[in-house]
Amino acid sequence: MRRGDICLVSLLQKHPKKSEHRPPQDHIPQLQAALLDWFAGHKRPLPWRETYAPYEVWISEIMLQQTQMERGVEYFTRWMRRFPTIQSLAAASEDEVLHLWEGLGYYSRARHLLNAARKIVTECDGVFPSSLQKIRELPGVGPYTAGAIASIAFGEKLPCVDANVERVLARVFNVDAPVRQAPAAATIQRLALRLVPDGCTREHNQAMMELGALVCGKKPRCARCPLSVFCISYHLDIVNVRPVPGKKTALSAISMATGVLCYQKKFFVQKRPPSGIWGNLWEFPGGRVEEGERPESAIMREFMEETGFRVKPVQRHGIIRHGYTTYRITLHCFGLRLDTGESGELSGQDLPAPPKLTAACDWRWAAPDEITALPMPAPHRKLADRIMSLP
Ligand code: ADE
Repeated sequence: MRRGDICLVSLLQKHPKKSEHRPPQDHIPQLQAALLDWFAGHKRPLPWRETYAPYEVWISEIMLQQTQMERGVEYFTRWMRRFPTIQSLAAASEDEVLHLWEGLGYYSRARHLLNAARKIVTECDGVFPSSLQKIRELPGVGPYTAGAIASIAFGEKLPCVDANVERVLARVFNVDAPVRQAPAAATIQRLALRLVPDGCTREHNQAMMELGALVCGKKPRCARCPLSVFCISYHLDIVNVRPVPGKKTALSAISMATGVLCYQKKFFVQKRPPSGIWGNLWEFPGGRVEEGERPESAIMREFMEETGFRVKPVQRHGIIRHGYTTYRITLHCFGLRLDTGESGELSGQDLPAPPKLTAACDWRWAAPDEITALPMPAPHRKLADRIMSLP
């Protein structure tokens, strides 16, 4: 037997305590029924579950990637209030869409949503496409999301395998290798498809995800699980070692410096280029603190490199920490003034000469209310809030 296959040997072993075991592959209809029954009684009243409108399912699926449910529901509700239809989204400005997305991270998701809405309006008469192939052609929609939308919104008979579902399947069928790697990844897909019942794909897929989220979590609650009687790992008392962990990506720590240059009650901000991290978001200039460099020196160097402005730190605005999937940022924040040499004064009342941008595609001296309306990455928004609340 190859690693990653269903562990059939385990089915032959008699567990001393849990004699009621019903091997899952021999009881598929009973397992499906138990799951659907449990879902009917335990599902959370999530807003997109009221009508399963394709537009709502699409937005929820994109938001829930890399986002906890509670936060996803909060953003979803706000989003639907502002963009209740595909047409209203298509007509919005990118700045507004990014601003509404602020704090969710992975901003390419928001840019793709806007571009996809515009595509639906111009190419599909404003109607969300129902075929898997057409859904897959929308910007930002990968194979998982296309399958989720096609099955949940349109009832197409496809499985929906997210991390929650991987965990459920790895435990129920005792998959004894890391679920994201070959050959177990294919085993998981095969098992997931086999479990989808005819005629109720939507409920089944939702139920699998819900079970993974509410019962078969990292800390499993087997006593409450409708599938425990079928679950091989439960039968063998090895639930805690399923799924088998994959390779962990090491978290790297990154030290950065940024600074708020204030001139005549306006703040210098720049807009990042469209591609790359924080694409098209507005920020205070800054960058990495090099090995052995002091944050104060880093901000002076970075400001000069990115804008051509010679600046001096005159205030500390503390440290802001922000975590991403694979790295953690420590952001050293400063208040800055233009370093104009001996006199310390600029001639005249006008703002300084335009910057020479090297890391941005636009810039602005922004008043506080403008800053509030611009889309900014979460750490820079925190810094902006800190400055605005200063006496
Ligand atoms: N995670 C991703 N999509 C989900 C959904 N539709 N229901 C519950 N959890 C989810």
